[in-house]
Amino acid sequence: MSSPLSDLSRRALNTRPFYVMELMARAHGFRARGGEVVSMVVGEPDFPTPEPILVAARKHLEVGRIHYTDALGLMALREAIARDYAHRDQLDIDPARVMVTAGASGALLLCFAAMLNPGDEVLILDPGYPCNREFVSMVNGVPRSLPVTAETNFQPTLEQVQQAWGPNTKALLLASPANPTGCTLDPVVAAQIHDFIASRGGWFVADEIYLRIQFSGGARSFLGLGNRVISINSFSKTYSMTGWRLGWMVAPIEWMPALERLSQNLFISASGLAQHAALEAFHSDTYAIVEGYRGRYAEHAESLLPRLKALGLAIPAQPSGAFYAYCDVSPLVADSYAFCLELCDKMGVLIAPGRDFSDFDAHKFVRVSFPKPIAVLEEGLDRMERYFLGR
Ligand SMILES: Cc1ncc(COP(=O)(O)O)c(C=O)c1O
Repeated sequence: MSSPLSDLSRRALNTRPFYVMELMARAHGFRARGGEVVSMVVGEPDFPTPEPILVAARKHLEVGRIHYTDALGLMALREAIARDYAHRDQLDIDPARVMVTAGASGALLLCFAAMLNPGDEVLILDPGYPCNREFVSMVNGVPRSLPVTAETNFQPTLEQVQQAWGPNTKALLLASPANPTGCTLDPVVAAQIHDFIASRGGWFVADEIYLRIQFSGGARSFLGLGNRVISINSFSKTYSMTGWRLGWMVAPIEWMPALERLSQNLFISASGLAQHAALEAFHSDTYAIVEGYRGRYAEHAESLLPRLKALGLAIPAQPSGAFYAYCDVSPLVADSYAFCLELCDKMGVLIAPGRDFSDFDAHKFVRVSFPKPIAVLEEGLDRMERYFLGR
């Protein structure tokens, strides 16, 4: 008889772990020795979910009717999301094109389930969000890495996309601002890339989860580029709602019946409670709160980045949004993963190794995540300073 382990699918066995999670588990050792851990490792805002959203959730709980919603989401929420594009991006988006999902994660899975036949390829950036390759391969698509470097702001050029595009390529997936770099794609280059992709009958899948967290504010959605854009978004980061599991996608109107069927089968619907609460996300008082959060991330970047550089961590491409710095530690250490482990064990400081985001040059990089109170970040940097002094 085979062992339970040997009955696991190749897909299950080949799905890569998050090294970040490994580090978090390892940090228990530091705590067990009486130490307090400083975490700059997870991409999760420390701010509370804005009060108007919490109030709406409490009210809805009182009613006590937490049911399934339509598979595409509450129409009132889809309309509110569409109005937000009109308000912030001057874009006229039909609410019927908006689908509410279980986070950006649910949207990415549904997007590729709707788009890909077995063997169809999706270009994904390296470094990039580690789950991207899994969303593509989960539906028997083929994720193709497109290595990007600091010289081009860790974003692709038109020439790179043209060269990488093959007969089986169906889409390019990128985030702007990106995880793990916080770097954005120039809108002019984005337009060129979109037009090339459109000429090939492909899709420009824009993960815009950090769109509203650009330090300078005022950034516009790539949905305005043309009709071959699919936009993925989420309440997780902008609204500090990671645990509510709520996001959305704007897709071609023709795809909506198929997306609805897929959603019915895979998820039934996104969380009803979260959807009712999120109706409050697009009012002026909530805007003011999340604008405050955005300002704080920008301040954190301003105080943290110079200190990281002073410690000898190079930041070859300056982040202009999100809450990450992708640092080159190769002048200081030979292997960034070993460095992260040692920093965890000796100093109780958690940062993410490049290997979570990259197969190329991963040993050179770490990601420092800064959506934390400034005092926590300062403490982390003080400890890093002591680590380097003590070597
Ligand atoms: C670029 C990117 N896309 C998608 C996600 C998933 O977000 P959600 O919580 O909305 O599923 C993340 C989470 O860190 C991310 O960084």
